[in-house]
Amino acid sequence: MRARRPVLTVQDLRVTYGGAVQALRGISMEVPDGKVVAVLGSNGAGKSTLLRTVSGTLKLHRGRVESGSVRLDGTDLLARDAAQTVRSGVVQVPEGRRIFGRLTVEENLRAGAMGNRDRAARAAAQARVHELFPVLKERSSQRGGLLSGGEQQMLAIGRALMASPKLLLLDEPSLGLAPRVIGQIGEVIAEINRQGTSVLLVEQNATMALGVADLAYVLDVGEVSLSGEAGVLAGTDEVQRLYLGHDADHQRGRRATSGRTLSRWTA
Ligand SMILES: Nc1ncnc2c1ncn2[C@@H]1O[C@H](COP(=O)(O)OP(=O)(O)O)[C@@H](O)[C@H]1O
Ligand SMILES: [Mg+2]
Repeated sequence: MRARRPVLTVQDLRVTYGGAVQALRGISMEVPDGKVVAVLGSNGAGKSTLLRTVSGTLKLHRGRVESGSVRLDGTDLLARDAAQTVRSGVVQVPEGRRIFGRLTVEENLRAGAMGNRDRAARAAAQARVHELFPVLKERSSQRGGLLSGGEQQMLAIGRALMASPKLLLLDEPSLGLAPRVIGQIGEVIAEINRQGTSVLLVEQNATMALGVADLAYVLDVGEVSLSGEAGVLAGTDEVQRLYLGHDADHQRGRRATSGRTLSRWTA
């Protein structure tokens, strides 16, 4: 298998909050072009900090990059603010979804397209979102806040896609959702990726994340403790014990099943 050139490269990244809390202690990782990369880790491991640093939103949280680099196709992302980063093709779906509850579904989607100046690209993004999430088309004129948790997550992902990202950053999209809905989110992520978007997926739900990812990293209090191909990582003792629980064999069986389901979507 030929290694793909990375779309995102993170090297020796150190990040602190308030000068005291060391959230990232020198992590290195990459997202190969066209792949899904999962970052697993328990609460406080530094997953959101990694995404905030990549998306240029770290300052909003009073975080600071102490050293290291973040490059998109070789260009320095740390020199860019959040809006410039979106225009470079990197769009984040933040933890907790953060949709505009009082705006309609359509208005939420339009807000996501604001950095997307090209009219044709906006129309294509809109069509893509409606095809991926028919429910968002049906509920166009309904307020975002009236959607179910799963639908709000789909709206948050749809809004991010309206900017036509080349790299999509997802921060715990499964949080607080029922298992059936988590399965749907996993399928949607796989489909988005199949359409050509690279994905950096941060999750505590290792089953979903390893089911959809090509590669994975495990973060442990600000450091990478394990990394490799998602399927291989799923079989390691540490990941089984810490993240997959006792029914890991059963979960692997489900992974194979969902793989078959997804291949049906390949036109
Ligand atoms: N805005 C903030 N101010 C101070 N400390 C923070 C802030 N955000 C996160 N942290 C701390 O940084 C560490 C990493 O947090 P975070 O990146 O949110 O982890 P995760 O997303 O993996 O749960 C934790 O110790 C957390 O308490
Ligand atoms: Mg987090």
